[in-house]
Amino acid sequence: MQERIIQFLKESDGYISGEEMSQRLNMSRAAIWKHMQELRADGYEIAAVPHLGYQLVTCPDKLISYEIQSGLNTKIMGKKVIVIDTVTSTMDEAFRLGMEGCLEGTVVCAEAQSKGRGRLGRAWTSPKFKGLYFSFVLRPNLPLSRLAQLTLMSAVALAEAIESVSELKPLIKWPNDILLEEHKLAGILTELRAESDQVQFVVVGIGLNVNSSLHQLTPGASSLKVAAGQSFNRTNVFQAILQSLEKWYLRLLQGEFFQVMDEWKSRSATLKRRIRITDATGIIEGQAVDLDEDGALLIRRDNGLIVKKSAGDVFILR
Ligand code: BTN
Repeated sequence: MQERIIQFLKESDGYISGEEMSQRLNMSRAAIWKHMQELRADGYEIAAVPHLGYQLVTCPDKLISYEIQSGLNTKIMGKKVIVIDTVTSTMDEAFRLGMEGCLEGTVVCAEAQSKGRGRLGRAWTSPKFKGLYFSFVLRPNLPLSRLAQLTLMSAVALAEAIESVSELKPLIKWPNDILLEEHKLAGILTELRAESDQVQFVVVGIGLNVNSSLHQLTPGASSLKVAAGQSFNRTNVFQAILQSLEKWYLRLLQGEFFQVMDEWKSRSATLKRRIRITDATGIIEGQAVDLDEDGALLIRRDNGLIVKKSAGDVFILR
C-alpha cells in the first residue's frame, strides 16, 4: 500500500487532499494518515497543510524494497527484494534463502555489511548508506564448468548499467572487477550449491561504491561519486543494474553467450595488456590475448606458449 501512496504522491501536481486520496485509493482518511506516518518513519518528507492536503517533498536516500521494485520492468530479477539494515554479508542471507527454495531472481541487499567479503578471502568494505551491497539467487540449468559465464555476464550487465546512469565508461578487469581509470569501483563474487556436476543455485554478490567519499574507500578503490563529482540516487542505480542483469541473463539462457563475450571483450581492461597473474600454482607474466568459451583467460608467455587460467588475481603491467 505504501508503494501505491508514494506513486500517487509522485504523480500528483502540488498538494493533494486527504479526501481525494481516500476516494481514489479507496481507504479511510485515518488509514491514509497512518500510512503517511509510516512513510515519514521510512525517511520520506511529506508536507501536510490544513485545507490543502499532502505533498511529497523529498524521498529518502534509503533502500526501500517497494521503491526499488516500482517501475522495474523485469520478469526474474527483483521479483522479490529484501532490504536489511545491517547484515554480516548478503551472501549468507541469499544462500540461506536459496537453500529454502526461494524464487529465482530473489535479491537481498543491505545498507551496511559487517563482514562483507570479496574474492580470494578479501574483505569488502561496506560503509552504511554509501553503496549497493546485494546478492541474488539464480537457478540456471548450467553444468559447473560453465559457471564463469554467469560472472562474466554479471560484469557486463554491471558495466552497462553504470554507463547508463552516468557519463562514466567503466572497464572490466578479468575476471570481474569493474574499474574506472584503474581504480576499483565494483566487484562481483559468485558462490554456488551444486550436486555432482549440476548447479542447484548460484548466489551472485555485487558490491558497488556509489556515494562513498575518498576517505571511506580502501586504497586503489573509487566510487561513482568520486569519479563523476556528484552523488547518485542509489535506487535508480540499483534499478538500472537489475534491468541490465535480466537482459544479459536472458541472453545467456537463450544460448547467446557469444554476445556476452563480445560485450565483455569490448569493455576489457585486461585483453591486449601485459599482465602478471597469481594463482595457487604460482605467478606468471605475459600478454593477455583472449578468453576461451568458458571465460578462462588465455595468456601468451614470452616463450610463445599459451597458458589458460580459470582463476587468479591479475595485475596489469605498464
Ligand atoms: C570482489 O571484488 O572481490 C568481490 C566483492 C563482492 C562484494 C559483494 S557486496 C555484496 C555481497 N556480499 C558480500 O559479502 N560480498 C558481495
